Amino acid sequence: MDRKCGMAIVGYGGMGGWHASKLDSMPETELKGIYDNLPSRRQAAMDLGIYAFESLNAVLEDKGIELIIIATPNDTHKEIAIRAMEAGKHVVCEKPAALNSAELKEMIDMAAKNNVIFTVHQNRRWDEDYLITKQIYETNTLGKVFHIESRVHGSRGIPGDWRNTKEHGGGMVLDWGVHLIDQILRMLADRRLLSLYASLSYVTNEEVDDGFKILLRFEKDLTCQIEVGTSNFISLPRWYIQGENGTAVIEDWNMNGKMVMVSDWEKRDAVPVATAAGLTKTMAPRTSETIREYSLPRIPSDIRDFYRNVIKAIDGKEEAYVNHYELMQSMRVMEAVMYSAHLNKVVDFADHL
Ligand SMILES: NC(=O)c1ccc[n+]([C@@H]2O[C@H](COP(=O)([O-])OP(=O)(O)OC[C@H]3O[C@@H](n4cnc5c(N)ncnc54)[C@H](O)[C@@H]3O)[C@@H](O)[C@H]2O)c1
Repeated sequence: MDRKCGMAIVGYGGMGGWHASKLDSMPETELKGIYDNLPSRRQAAMDLGIYAFESLNAVLEDKGIELIIIATPNDTHKEIAIRAMEAGKHVVCEKPAALNSAELKEMIDMAAKNNVIFTVHQNRRWDEDYLITKQIYETNTLGKVFHIESRVHGSRGIPGDWRNTKEHGGGMVLDWGVHLIDQILRMLADRRLLSLYASLSYVTNEEVDDGFKILLRFEKDLTCQIEVGTSNFISLPRWYIQGENGTAVIEDWNMNGKMVMVSDWEKRDAVPVATAAGLTKTMAPRTSETIREYSLPRIPSDIRDFYRNVIKAIDGKEEAYVNHYELMQSMRVMEAVMYSAHLNKVVDFADHL
């Protein structure tokens, strides 16, 4: 370990607390303190022995702080990030970095102008379910993959805090869409996105979307479905992956799931299934001697690698894992999702992304 990187967290709510607990287990970081505009949250930090700054200015003036982690509601990210970068601080911003691509460009430009690192906490790139799917795709475990479904389902509606207001940048596209779109775009970075069609849901909230479905078409015959639902009392699997020789399912965040692959393509005879009103061979389940079932691979990961990479990026030893091109690409896809849903139209990207 070369040195300790002095950091502060702005916004000490749910995610601010999460960042503090991760940094606490990293000898290469030093949390100098937090700032939250709510006195009760500053007190909550002090109760845990964490220093609480009285203002954002006090954080910006502290010469021991190199990096500021922003974990405030989405509509406040831009202003705090710009002030931090103007003060010469490096910035890790919570997702979504901004509410639209114009805001994001201002932030990216400010990073370049002040020669500081500006990156975003796309932590779900370290989720094991994602890493397993990525490996299955990259290694052709199931043969050539032609369809991927990525879903998160809950049944509590949209949370009742700032997330259900437009003013604060609420809605599930900005909240969860930003993760799921980022994952798919990174995994499929080897092929162009051709088009998408999206619909949003408003079951529990009228002001912002409480869920969505996106169908994406990539070059070389690969389709994806990304879905977030908050009124799903029965959850569908987190991932469903189809390759030419098999199918994989990852049920949940506990990595329950399996891969089923063909073992004998030649044995095509199927026992027909009779339903009350008909007969089918095409849709009959496979007999056990023609398929084999495998357990999912396990891929351990450590989210602290995200912060380690940011420190190395500050020291000029590595590129930031989450870069500006990727952030802008996800933001443009989110804007296309809103556009498609609003006008009920397919968005054709041609060569834009
Ligand atoms: N990456 C992830 O996995 C993940 C998970 C949850 C939330 N988030 C993101 O983290 C951010 C915060 O979400 P949360 O769930 O922690 O919200 P939260 O409401 O629990 O916490 C936000 C905190 O920011 C404070 N705050 C608001 N405006 C402020 C300002 N101008 N200056 C200082 N403090 C201010 C609030 O008082 C509150 O304590 C959001 O951008 C959200 O999208 C990311």
